[in-house]
Amino acid sequence: MLYGMSSTNTSPPNASTPSIILDCDPGHDDAIAIVVAAQHTNLVGITTVAGNAPLTMTTRNALIMTDLLGIDTPVHSGADRPLVAPPRHAGYVHGESGLDGADLPEPTRGANGDNAVEFIIETCRTTEGIWLVPVGPLTNIALALRTASDLKDRIAGISLMGGGSFGNRSAAAEFNIWADPEAAAMVYEYGGPLKMAGLDVTHQFQATPDRIAKVSALPGRLAELLADLLHFFSATYMTRHDDMGGAAVHDPLAVMALTHPELFTIAQRHVVIETAGEHTRGMTLIDERALIERRPPNCDVLTHVEADAAFDVIVAAIAHFSN
Ligand code: RIB
Ligand code: CA
Repeated sequence: MLYGMSSTNTSPPNASTPSIILDCDPGHDDAIAIVVAAQHTNLVGITTVAGNAPLTMTTRNALIMTDLLGIDTPVHSGADRPLVAPPRHAGYVHGESGLDGADLPEPTRGANGDNAVEFIIETCRTTEGIWLVPVGPLTNIALALRTASDLKDRIAGISLMGGGSFGNRSAAAEFNIWADPEAAAMVYEYGGPLKMAGLDVTHQFQATPDRIAKVSALPGRLAELLADLLHFFSATYMTRHDDMGGAAVHDPLAVMALTHPELFTIAQRHVVIETAGEHTRGMTLIDERALIERRPPNCDVLTHVEADAAFDVIVAAIAHFSN
């Protein structure tokens, strides 16, 4: 494909099941990503990072989701703060628990370990070809890449949620990148396959009332709780954005980029992270120039999603765990 051309993935709809480690900071949309990953991937492990809420809460929330799905996927907690930036959270969107808005049960188990970086490295050395799917700040992933120089050659690639041509935590920076720009810079420079679900595509994927109603119509406690979470998430989004009909359900798109590539259009671009700008720290600078001086692409940027079909994937995954 010529550089700069956009393309709709032509992968067959039934692309082989990817093995992934989901690195997350649940987080309402992270919770949905866990459901989709549990249904459509070989979910080798879940690692948690501080982001939407402190690490103790994001880890607790991940464990609650595995309970609700009835899966025993190993959960390993990771970094409780960014590499350099101060710890900052997003209670204004997700609530103080990180997963406000539903009457969630207490977790029935503790984490399998508290060294996510070691889990990522050892798992990817034992089993090659795993995708790392980070949907929170990139601290764990950056630490793993820095600790194990062989990691980049053992993984299939990285499919992340983050960045965009505009921000949400600032005019320039999206939260996951803004929270730990130094980590993000290491990830975008790692040199292997990289997919990016940024705000340009995730804002196309909103939990509108009609879509949440499809979840509410499903039987069982899981669907009821997830519908409550989506209502809460959408309520906070609607009070903060002028132009949205529901919360942008960001994180599952980083999973579906691997499991349902036919639903996306991508553009191959060079993306670099701003770490120093007074007003732009945490920005993903996407080189859109149609100039021969443009830098070779290092990233598949997701630019469009078939939103109705993608949300039906979520509804079907919830239904699968509701029977
Ligand atoms: O900016 C959206 C991202 O920040 C999502 O991953 C959301 O869960 C929060 O982590
Ligand atoms: Ca997240």
